[in-house]
Amino acid sequence: MEQNSLHHSDAAAAEGNAGATSVAAKKVFVKTYGCQMNVYDSQRMADALAAQGYGPTDSIEEADLVLLNTCHIREKAAEKVYSELGRIRQLKDERAAEGRETIVGVAGCVAQAEGREILRRAPVVDLVIGPQTYHRLPEVVKRARGGEKIVETEYALEDKFEHLPAAQNKVTRKRGVTAFLTVQEGCDKFCTFCVVPYTRGAEVSRPVSQIVAEAKRLAEAGVREVTLLGQNVNGWHGEGADGREWGLGELLFRLAEIPGLDRLRYTTSHPRDMDDALIAAHRDLDKLMPYLHLPVQSGSDRILKAMNRKHTHDDYLRLIERIREARPDIAMSGDFIVGFPGESEEDFQETMRIVREVNYAQAFSFKYSPRPGTPGADMDGHVAEDVKSERLQRLQDLLYQQQREFAQSLVGKQISLLLEKPGREAGQLVGRSPWLQPVIVDERLGEIGQIIDVRISKAGSNSLFAEPVAGPISATEVA
Ligand code: SAH
Ligand code: SF4
Ligand code: F3S
Repeated sequence: MEQNSLHHSDAAAAEGNAGATSVAAKKVFVKTYGCQMNVYDSQRMADALAAQGYGPTDSIEEADLVLLNTCHIREKAAEKVYSELGRIRQLKDERAAEGRETIVGVAGCVAQAEGREILRRAPVVDLVIGPQTYHRLPEVVKRARGGEKIVETEYALEDKFEHLPAAQNKVTRKRGVTAFLTVQEGCDKFCTFCVVPYTRGAEVSRPVSQIVAEAKRLAEAGVREVTLLGQNVNGWHGEGADGREWGLGELLFRLAEIPGLDRLRYTTSHPRDMDDALIAAHRDLDKLMPYLHLPVQSGSDRILKAMNRKHTHDDYLRLIERIREARPDIAMSGDFIVGFPGESEEDFQETMRIVREVNYAQAFSFKYSPRPGTPGADMDGHVAEDVKSERLQRLQDLLYQQQREFAQSLVGKQISLLLEKPGREAGQLVGRSPWLQPVIVDERLGEIGQIIDVRISKAGSNSLFAEPVAGPISATEVA
């Protein structure tokens, strides 16, 4: 079984909409697959449609417009979309019998990668729209309601950020105390296994002024923690307020000045783009959380080369050493692929070795999935499925053990906790540790949006439990 990654399960949890509050005649249901960038985009699409009189709904039954925001990263992710479209076809037919119209749209990376092919495979679909053309969504929906079938995947680079609805919106609706903020999109790295450069296009950085303005709006709306997003977020660059070329490090220093924004994170990074300024930000900025997702994919130099990662096992280790010198309490997270074409048992052992050397607090690991159109798919030496499964199992056992040991090492420690939402059980609140773990506390300890100091009392399998620093709350302390 594939390990379910936090960033991916977060996306699943964000199915439906957080969004507009206006009472609208029509309803839109958005289902989100894939990475955080899709979560962010789904919210922006909901915003753009709200302006057209579409209110959000969490119930597909109520929706006049159903949008699937899709992921193409592995075969399984892409195939899920077609099974969902099968269910939607039934729904649309039932509705049509009642004289009600349902518009069905496919957005995201499957839309960009497959385009018109989607209409052929799933005639229930009315519109296909790629991630670079979301600013045209309201117009596209209008045309689809007029009976047209539409495929909108062509774009000009400069369109990408110019038209982001968020950039035009004066209001940012409150969506809780944490938020994503896209600063960079696309990828020029062309790792040989990966579809992202094809689905998200070339790397584009959003200008500083737009990012700062959006961060300020979020802070004013009560957001305390912002996660900067990009497929290669640490490849972000732009002209700074001082007229000089900034990288992500300089940008983080600027964002740390915004009152009310108390925690900053960013994801996902490439080892080749970790520069000195970014490492300095980890050293100097208390607001920058001590957690870094820095995928390495493999520990074998031979496989890293075949993957076109452009760094070696030792380059990665040296980089981590420098980062840990700057920020000794940093928790490392990574992504791994097992069974890339040509991977031998010795290559796999190199991956196991790098995991032991780095010691990850969190990690996401996958069996290699050949993607049409990527160089990897045409390489020799594809690894048998059962070998992939067996390697994945060994890798995940090791990663899981490290994750548990890390959580266990926190028991007894005092940490700061941002309270985010009610817990699953009555009387609980859940927040996140600086290292992104969910932490469960008694609701009497504070209010959502507060950052409190607590002591970790217990480490469960997926979350931590914490108590007041002074000791457990006893029943008598509470009136
Ligand atoms: N931009 C990020 C992440 C891209 S996708 C980065 O460069 O790290 C997230 C993860 O999915 C990747 O890090 C990789 O581990 C995994 N992945 C990408 N393509 C894959 C494929 N074809 N098969 C299996 N896993 C893949
Ligand atoms: Fe994909 Fe590599 Fe780009 Fe990451 S850096 S998005 S893995 S091509
Ligand atoms: Fe998937 Fe596209 Fe994100 S392929 S992981 S939704 S960039």
